[in-house]
Amino acid sequence: MTLAVEFSLMNQESQIEENKGTPHGEGPVPFFEANVKTRVLLVASGKGGVGKSSVTTNLAVALSKRGNDVAVIDADVWGFSIPRMLGITEPPSVVDDMLVPPSAHGVRSISMGFFADEDQPVIWRGPMLHKALNQFLTDVVWDEPDFLLIDLPPGTGDTAISIAGFLPDSEMLVVTTPQVAAQAVAQRAAFMAGKVDIEVRGVIENMSWFTADDGQRYELFGAGGGKALADKLGVPLVGQIPLVPTLREGSDNGNPVAADLSTEIGAIFAEIARVVEEDLKPSKRRHRELKIN
Ligand SMILES: Nc1ncnc2c1ncn2[C@@H]1O[C@H](COP(=O)(O)OP(=O)(O)OP(=O)(O)O)[C@@H](O)[C@H]1O
Ligand SMILES: [Mg+2]
Repeated sequence: MTLAVEFSLMNQESQIEENKGTPHGEGPVPFFEANVKTRVLLVASGKGGVGKSSVTTNLAVALSKRGNDVAVIDADVWGFSIPRMLGITEPPSVVDDMLVPPSAHGVRSISMGFFADEDQPVIWRGPMLHKALNQFLTDVVWDEPDFLLIDLPPGTGDTAISIAGFLPDSEMLVVTTPQVAAQAVAQRAAFMAGKVDIEVRGVIENMSWFTADDGQRYELFGAGGGKALADKLGVPLVGQIPLVPTLREGSDNGNPVAADLSTEIGAIFAEIARVVEEDLKPSKRRHRELKIN
């Protein structure tokens, strides 16, 4: 049964039951195989509301503007937000039992948002969630993008563990706010990455400052948290993103600010994309068949 059909027949409780003990879709996922060029970037945070989805969306658009083939999986099946932020309104199409993801701003995406109403709760847990994430990877025509970004739900729960199992060569970017006190929480995401053997590659600080009309910068959420976390994890601070009303507006109406390179915020995302693509380029691809345990 295809993902589309399955989701449209959503009888959640019975499907959880049906899925129990069924090793559904445990085969290799396309990005798992050796020599695939795709870099998988997991965007994570310790707590909610720090801007993961905004960063995922705008980084994806900025990477696409650099000429990359980019895809995004919205792995926040409960609090999906990527379709709205990217401005995708049409659902995926179905070809030969596979889903072809819709795209906007040069970025292809799949999300629970295409299968559930925004005002209806998604109540899946454990096995059903694992199955849905697997289907996002295996029942969708992704080809071989240069980058696959995955927007994780807040915290350190089942989703990250499932994804780590499917995509062990993923790289993680941790989003945090400048509050030094938030560091301990942000560190949990990195701790979890370590537990599931995923490499943290960098920290992105969001909501770093606000520039008022008089040109004065206000550090509303404190200062130094991103750098402190990066130092603690021994990874670079990839970028600092200011609070900008147009970023929020763009997220709400599907006009990501990274699409316009002439603005200050557009240029900031362009630089973050450059750092991710060039400075954080993996020095060697891990070849699964060569891995010695
Ligand atoms: N730099 C910013 N400037 C202005 N608004 C921002 C900025 N970053 C995020 N926002 C706004 O803050 C809200 C939360 O951001 P977002 O949804 O990206 O966070 P999240 O970490 O994905 O949240 P959740 O944990 O709920 O998934 C959104 O309304 C977004 O538009
Ligand atoms: Mg989010």
